[in-house]
Amino acid sequence: MKLTDLANAHVCELKPYQGGKPIEELQREGVGDVIKLASNEAPHPPSEKVINAVQAALKDLNRYPDGGSYELRRALSEKLRLPGEQIFLGAGSDEILEVLVKVFVGPGDEAVYPWPSFAMYPIVMQGMGGRSVQVKLEDPFTPDVDQLLSAVTKRTKLLFLANPNNPTGVSIAAADFERLVNELPEHVILVHDEAYLEYVRRTDFPRSLDAVAKRPAFVTLRTFSKIYGLAGLRIGYAAADAELIQLLERARHPFNVNSLAQVAAIVALSDEDHVQKIRKLTHEGLDTLEQAFRELGLGYVKSDANFVLVKVPDAGEVQQRLLQRGVITRAMGAFGLDGYLRVTAGLPAENRRFLDMLRLELGR
Ligand SMILES: Cc1ncc(COP(=O)(O)O)c(C=O)c1O
Repeated sequence: MKLTDLANAHVCELKPYQGGKPIEELQREGVGDVIKLASNEAPHPPSEKVINAVQAALKDLNRYPDGGSYELRRALSEKLRLPGEQIFLGAGSDEILEVLVKVFVGPGDEAVYPWPSFAMYPIVMQGMGGRSVQVKLEDPFTPDVDQLLSAVTKRTKLLFLANPNNPTGVSIAAADFERLVNELPEHVILVHDEAYLEYVRRTDFPRSLDAVAKRPAFVTLRTFSKIYGLAGLRIGYAAADAELIQLLERARHPFNVNSLAQVAAIVALSDEDHVQKIRKLTHEGLDTLEQAFRELGLGYVKSDANFVLVKVPDAGEVQQRLLQRGVITRAMGAFGLDGYLRVTAGLPAENRRFLDMLRLELGR
């Protein structure tokens, strides 16, 4: 008897998430002095204030965390001007996606989402025996609300919309978003994934909390993993109608958000100066990268997030050779974006090093 015969077939068919290569893994392979521009993390360590708060909380690690995240919920409630019962906390947006699928998706139910998009959408659906309906946009860099709406059926339970999208970095304007909020049938939960919200520069970006007030079948996801610099602690949140949040609360683990993450998130949320510093640094980094791409005659996709797609000949090969030089980026062939490399804006010295290595590789 093979164990795979005993396991759920939909789990056996699951292709595991392929993240950016960890720095330590490359170092174990013998490459020294490694920089990682592959997972859209913040380039700086958390602020002193966050580190001090986490250190002070270490002495209580013998206790379970506060299962209701009382203080953090209160801080978020104040910041978002939303009652605490309309906020759900999770171990990263990843966990919240999984809880959403657990609550709303049964075998054979569908989730619609544009493709390419965030790699966890197919994984959480497959893991629960749901069906992914990937809408291959005619132009992957131009979101099309009509194409998404026309993919909805009676079996559709969720529509995932990463805005800005990963891996393209492209965002959807308020007018298109509102059309989706208004025209999506009410049996479909619109999951608006705003992991990169704080980096957006366009002025007509949707105000998702208005949609929370307007549409019961709506949830917006945010994370502390990106601009707040807490990817290693795993913490994110959702805002939605209180009834929807109640359903998510039933399906989560009792202590899903660890105590260090709660403490760190409270401090990070109040540290507006640090957020502004990362935002400015990231925008300067993106501008530097884009200018260099123009000078090198490389095509790129104008990004609203903290990473950018650049078109290079033989992206897979270039990614491998950059790895050997200690620079971790990600080729996007697996997302149907052959010839594109995704690079996260890093510290100025990291961006310079990436560009120097890229010039060497391309012989330009
Ligand atoms: C669009 C999108 N959503 C969600 C996430 C996951 O974030 P978290 O670290 O909060 O699980 C990511 C991470 O890269 C992302 O790109």
